[in-house]
Amino acid sequence: MEYRKLGKTDLKLSAITYGAFAIGGSMWGGNEKQDSIRAIHASLDHGVTSLDTAPFYGFGLSEELIGEAIKGRDRSKIQLLTKFGLVWDGSNKEKGEFFFDAGSDGKSIPVYKYASKQNIIKEVEESLQRLGTDYIDLLQIHWADATTPISETMEAMDELIKQGKILAAGVCNYDLAQLQEAEQTLSLASNQLSYSMLNRAIERDIVPYTIDHNIGLIAYSPLERGLLTGKYFKDATLKNDDHRNGYFGQFNAEKVKSFLTSIEPLAKEKNATLAQLVLRWTTLQPGITLVLAGSRNAEQAVSNAQAMNIKLNTEELQLINNQLLTL
Ligand SMILES: NC(=O)c1ccc[n+]([C@@H]2O[C@H](COP(=O)([O-])OP(=O)(O)OC[C@H]3O[C@@H](n4cnc5c(N)ncnc54)[C@H](OP(=O)(O)O)[C@@H]3O)[C@@H](O)[C@H]2O)c1
Repeated sequence: MEYRKLGKTDLKLSAITYGAFAIGGSMWGGNEKQDSIRAIHASLDHGVTSLDTAPFYGFGLSEELIGEAIKGRDRSKIQLLTKFGLVWDGSNKEKGEFFFDAGSDGKSIPVYKYASKQNIIKEVEESLQRLGTDYIDLLQIHWADATTPISETMEAMDELIKQGKILAAGVCNYDLAQLQEAEQTLSLASNQLSYSMLNRAIERDIVPYTIDHNIGLIAYSPLERGLLTGKYFKDATLKNDDHRNGYFGQFNAEKVKSFLTSIEPLAKEKNATLAQLVLRWTTLQPGITLVLAGSRNAEQAVSNAQAMNIKLNTEELQLINNQLLTL
């Protein structure tokens, strides 16, 4: 594993960071509790020291599973990354900005973006409880809330840093203008954004800016939620209540399939799976500090951590990049 400094902070995090969205179960067709715990343990046992979660993942369950999994482990060797700003309990209705309905099977769960100072402080207390810890290494706003001034959100995080409840403050899904506005109030550790071989829009403006300003870049959904493993072109299937039934539709399946077929020989040569090759490529892209890899069981977790063992030279990276031009 490689450990990387996050922006201007003193935090050193594992280049492959564990992504705990799917183990929350909700939107992902559920997950077995013991599989989730084993996935976290397997990650920690294979060099992954950083775990990324959010209150929204499984409506608190993902944070609780992390809290349970790290009990008895040396907290000082683990970095906890969580978020705030998505609320679903109904108490904040009318206050924030409606985002989407996360319900399924006819049940409605309206989710609001809400990042007021009062709400952040409340959410952080709840996260600390669920995670079973007294500090969060990196706190991030999950999605910008248009009803709260960015300066108010940043001031709240600044206060939490001064209180020692969080070590660093970051954002997720911020565009360049939002990032620049936030930095007028607080020096940010990182921006967490969707980035993969199939989704490289941030290379145009965000990547150069974060490199210039020494802000960490955390890539999420690097496997495009499982699509880039190739298994969904073979025998893998999705449950009805899995959001990927719709999500995968945005990609041109035939093009993605041929692209994966074209890089398969390189994966074989490296004794690696497609997923490992995809993850390793992502960790090597300019400006990318951390790659969040989601896994639902120990086997996936070990495989993802071991992606860092793959060595890719300039010619091999170029070969992949040339094939990416076909997408
Ligand atoms: N800030 C944000 O707004 C935001 C949004 C999304 C994600 N994130 C973060 O980024 C993390 C990673 O993204 P993600 O979980 O959305 O997607 P991802 O990492 O691209 O894909 C994860 C999924 O791919 C499949 N998979 C993973 N490793 C595999 C392996 N080795 N072999 C076969 N299948 C494998 C698993 O699902 P199946 O086995 O069911 O196929 C897994 O749940 C999240 O967990 C979360 O921490 C943040």
